[in-house]
Amino acid sequence: MILTDDEKRMADGERGQAVRLAMEILTEIGSNYGAERLIEIKSVHSAAIYPQLEVSPEILEMFVEKGGHFVVPTTLNPSHAPLNFDKWKEFPEPEDFRSRGHRMVNAMEKLGVIPTYSCTPYFQGNLPRIGQHISWVESSAISFANSVIGARTNRTTMGVELAAAVTGRTPEFGLHLDENRSGNVLVKIEFEPKTLKDFHTIGYIIGKYFGDKVPVIEGLPKGTTANQLKCLGAAAASRGVVALYHAVGITPEAQTKEQAFKGKRPQEEIKIDERAMKKTEEEISTYKGGDIDAVLVGCPHPLIEEVKELAALLKDRAVKDSVKFCLFISNDILKRARQMGFIDPIEKAGVDIFEGDCAIWCPLTYWGWKNVATNSAKYANILPSDPTYVDVLYADTNQCVELGTS
Ligand code: F3S
Repeated sequence: MILTDDEKRMADGERGQAVRLAMEILTEIGSNYGAERLIEIKSVHSAAIYPQLEVSPEILEMFVEKGGHFVVPTTLNPSHAPLNFDKWKEFPEPEDFRSRGHRMVNAMEKLGVIPTYSCTPYFQGNLPRIGQHISWVESSAISFANSVIGARTNRTTMGVELAAAVTGRTPEFGLHLDENRSGNVLVKIEFEPKTLKDFHTIGYIIGKYFGDKVPVIEGLPKGTTANQLKCLGAAAASRGVVALYHAVGITPEAQTKEQAFKGKRPQEEIKIDERAMKKTEEEISTYKGGDIDAVLVGCPHPLIEEVKELAALLKDRAVKDSVKFCLFISNDILKRARQMGFIDPIEKAGVDIFEGDCAIWCPLTYWGWKNVATNSAKYANILPSDPTYVDVLYADTNQCVELGTS
């Protein structure tokens, strides 16, 4: 790789050992992926915060000990560790889970992270512009940044974003380059999606058929909202590894179908109609019967409008004694929703609020749960496997409320 004079000095350790190590990581990755140079980035979104995963507290603490400091705005994904101290009596933790989580949070704060604890950093102040390079982790956020905003990031590997954050650089390959951003498969929507669940399910179908492709979606309503695209992208990125999609007439690099494909012909095409939707909704559920232990909503982290809808549905209802009803939400939206009076009916109904948290990193089987219901296709796709292993009933928010309350 060709480095600038400044980058050569960084690689030689002139800006400290953390930067030297980070440059070693970035140039190694860049060489492996055929990058010719490093490029400057505007922000990082990190997920190096899960006590269960390969990015251990030791790695974060090593960056601190070597004098590391984030040089670009760096936000943080949800974590089970930091914000739910008051819940640990009711929701106990496996041995060392909490202490490892605390160490990771402490190290991240020393490195200068912005403690957003949310998978929707673009709604929490980390908002790049079209064409800007970033280095983000978290599949749903990456999808949103590339597709809805038009910023440029690869699916950065967890841990590598730390190297990007302390140098302000990333190797130039993949979705940072124009030639890899054109659509290569076509998705025709042949019904009118109305509910948020419809967008989750469309995303799931796209992820299932077009794993790592760049789908161009034709037929979404002109008035499709950012929140609907957030749900579509999260499901596509989770069921497949879709990091970029284009929606014709809606997303910034697809004002027309021709622009989205950049003159190329689609390699494949699928049609999504009401029949495909119904079949997929049944397929997403792994639930085989028995009691529902918990209802999980808030994936991806909700906006005010979703909290408002939940509050209205829960008014004058109470969570069943046999069920835990959990809302996962960013601390920012929680604060605002509380100011607007939407949290009061939710808490009165007996819902447990997991602030800055995500069910994927909660020890669900340790809590004895076998069956959960959720309105999220991403949760439904992930929760039946490692590390949570629960069966999932995929339902819309209304049905989730019916299942979890009386
Ligand atoms: Fe966010 Fe967790 Fe869902 S990180 S997208 S709430 S799986």
